[in-house]
Amino acid sequence: MKQAVIQPFAGKLVGSILCPRDKSLSHRAVMLGTLSEGETVITGFSFCRDCLATVYCIQSWGVEVELIPQEEKVIVRSEGLFHLREPHDVLNAENSGTTIRLLAGMATGIPGLSVFTGDQSLRQRPMGRIIEPLRQTGVEIGGRAGDRFPPLFVRGQSRVKPIRHTLPVPSAQVKSALILAALKGEGPSVIDEPVASRDHTENMLRYLGASIKKQGTTIVVNPCTQLHAKAFRLPGDASSAAFLVALATLCPDSQITIKDVGVNPHRIGFLHCLRMMGGKWRLTNEHEEFGEARADLEVEFAPLRGIEIPPELIPSLIDEIPILSILASQAEGKTVISGAEELRVKESDRIAAIAQGLKALGGRVEEKRDGLIIYGKTTFTGGVVESFGDHRIAMSFIIAGLTGSKTVVVKDVDCIEISYPRFFTDLATLGCSGVSIEEK
Ligand code: S3P
Repeated sequence: MKQAVIQPFAGKLVGSILCPRDKSLSHRAVMLGTLSEGETVITGFSFCRDCLATVYCIQSWGVEVELIPQEEKVIVRSEGLFHLREPHDVLNAENSGTTIRLLAGMATGIPGLSVFTGDQSLRQRPMGRIIEPLRQTGVEIGGRAGDRFPPLFVRGQSRVKPIRHTLPVPSAQVKSALILAALKGEGPSVIDEPVASRDHTENMLRYLGASIKKQGTTIVVNPCTQLHAKAFRLPGDASSAAFLVALATLCPDSQITIKDVGVNPHRIGFLHCLRMMGGKWRLTNEHEEFGEARADLEVEFAPLRGIEIPPELIPSLIDEIPILSILASQAEGKTVISGAEELRVKESDRIAAIAQGLKALGGRVEEKRDGLIIYGKTTFTGGVVESFGDHRIAMSFIIAGLTGSKTVVVKDVDCIEISYPRFFTDLATLGCSGVSIEEK
């Protein structure tokens, strides 16, 4: 197991960089390539552990997925959604909630048995939220511990009954699982999403010609007879960019450009909060591809003040709360995060992990059932922080260590490979030094 030893960084971040390509879009591009007839060429695929888990599962369904990592390219060759076959073995989603939930939705339309498992963290994440609505398709589906956790099984069939479901908590994973299942429905399915979550699945399916209509908060998915393969060129991942944005904001005189980042409005709540806190950033070269907004993101140093995070922004910044908490501890005054109980069922209990890490570095924080109250501005002292094997916790506390006053150790940083294998290289490219990795 590796640990990061971080010395305070007194310099500035400068330059321009391409951050890793979007993880949510990479998963979906391979999945939709699988459902499309022909050759799907994906450029800018994220070769992180989560997305590779999706690739390996899909290969088990008899689909040819060619990986060309040196060109960040993946080619999916499939006969389309009616030609997927029962896998010979269990599918391992490893650490990835997106993999297991979306593929379970797809598996309802694949005749035969698909069984999914994952690593220790994934096997503790809630699956009732997909099992229950997916049962409306008429297929058998279940999981461990009274249908609550993985392993999961799905006994799919080539056509399924339509679904009608209202999402009790905003979740793009649940919504996408239902949309993917609904493509093979015997009639239109209706999914109500009272609070909007990221809409990548809808945008990408529309680009491929599927009929997905949004009326107010309701999404109507019409069944598909065939989808035809089209190329995807994926943008950078706003969630990975957030770590670089945070460090540039905290280091005086920094000025960086993160090129070609995905700025889907449902993904940039972090940037909106940062601006409310006094952060300085702007988007240039804004344009759209396959219904997804993208732009260059310019960021510079700025002193920050604490804010009350508007609860309606939570779904659009849910993955960024760990790094936003580090920024909050460096802001003058109090920052309140509420309505974020979903954080308790992510790759780790992130509310507890953030609170424990901040306290270990001398931060002042109160843990709430559904969020955190963080008091700034803290000069981080040295200390040892547990990552709990959670990539976003590990990276957030490495950024904290860089802005501190004494040596910080972040334990178990191998997990960074889950979303951002080039994290340390990208920090160095922008001029940041002070992180060394030790085998422990
Ligand atoms: C994701 C949706 C979110 C997010 C996750 C990726 C996706 O999860 O936290 O990292 O790609 O659909 P939920 O749907 O559980 O909110």
